[in-house]
Amino acid sequence: MRSIWSKTVAPPAFPQLEKDISPEVAVIGGGMAGILCAAALRERGIDCAVLEANTVGSGITANTTAVLSVQTETLYLDRIRKHGAEAAKLLLDAEREAIERFRSYGETIPCDLENLPALTYSLRDAEKMKTEAAALRSLGLAAEFLTDTPLPFPVAGAVRMPETAQFHPLKFLYQLAKGLTVYENTRALRLEGTTVITDRAHVHAKQVIVATHFPFINRYGLYFLKMYQQRSFVVAYRGAPSLGCTIMDEAEKGIYLRSYGDLLLIGGGDRRPGKKGCGFAAAREFARQYYPQAEEVCAWGNQDCVTLDDLPYIGAYRSGGKGVYVTAGFGGWGMTGSMMGATVLADLVTGQKNRYAKLFDPARRMKLLPLLQNGGEAMLGLLTPKLKRCSHMGCALGWNEAEQSWDCPCHGSRFRANGSVIDNPATHGIVTKKT
Ligand code: FES
Repeated sequence: MRSIWSKTVAPPAFPQLEKDISPEVAVIGGGMAGILCAAALRERGIDCAVLEANTVGSGITANTTAVLSVQTETLYLDRIRKHGAEAAKLLLDAEREAIERFRSYGETIPCDLENLPALTYSLRDAEKMKTEAAALRSLGLAAEFLTDTPLPFPVAGAVRMPETAQFHPLKFLYQLAKGLTVYENTRALRLEGTTVITDRAHVHAKQVIVATHFPFINRYGLYFLKMYQQRSFVVAYRGAPSLGCTIMDEAEKGIYLRSYGDLLLIGGGDRRPGKKGCGFAAAREFARQYYPQAEEVCAWGNQDCVTLDDLPYIGAYRSGGKGVYVTAGFGGWGMTGSMMGATVLADLVTGQKNRYAKLFDPARRMKLLPLLQNGGEAMLGLLTPKLKRCSHMGCALGWNEAEQSWDCPCHGSRFRANGSVIDNPATHGIVTKKT
């Protein structure tokens, strides 16, 4: 199921890695996170090679809704409560700078970038939205509370955020990647120090950045314990009115919307991959109810890595480890998260200080309860008696009827019906038939 982005731009082609190379930095993963890291390093004169298991942007980046916003699933009032005002302000600054960097790239890369406000609404809780607007203002963003929105139904209240934007992720990514050293169809299998062992050759790098959506090395960092994936489902419609902003329901598992040209993209139905109820029903029901005249153009699924404290993991792959870095865990905000990752890691790799590095440090302390809850989900997957098992760590797989794939609720690996890998952290396929 191809996204509207994949259908509207042709990908560039890059060679496969056939022989050993020795770049200064190897970036594993040719999605938005990896390509932005390589571009940031190239701007600093660093020789860098990107290793992509499939083709550039063919994973999560092809399926994002590409909203550049400071709005996230977690409201800033909750972030202040959880992390304190200073940390929340730092995060907001990082997000605003990331959007600004996209804007600046967008001046030379044609990528349909539009500056539009972002709206987060609540159906029932006006007070919450008022408090959120005040929280954002206290951190320096000129957010407004309002009740009048472009939605075809009344809301209790909404927060309007300025300085946000939307764009075409693949037009952007393909153009940016063209100036870089990229190897496609080159799967990294493991690391030996800072040498990347791929399926055909060795990459002897001085430093390595793992930008593989879900970090694929289990030995260090315990990412399988402190992160999970969430699948979300988007349907594009023709014949619905343009919004003039991006929109998100603040409720858990709420709907989100953006326009692209004459299309309206409706997303929702978020849940762990492989869990019951995965599919396009939420988006389609919303469209049927509020835009009955609209005609479906295409539908696709997407997947986000969620951390247990709603902050990304950007920094050294393992505590105290040198030369290997990670950028992951952006929740539903992979575009701004990828840009934040590129900026922070470009500094760390070149030995510079970065004001956000401590906030995003993957080795930061996690609260015990979310760790136990996430570990419990994985344990459930491991103990579920099913024949189809994930090649990552052995959890029971669920059949995703809407997308015809075997999906793993533990850490989100996905496999085609023929058993080949679609989404990591699994690095190899499963032998299976649908039963
Ligand atoms: Fe980890 Fe399946 S993704 S066990």
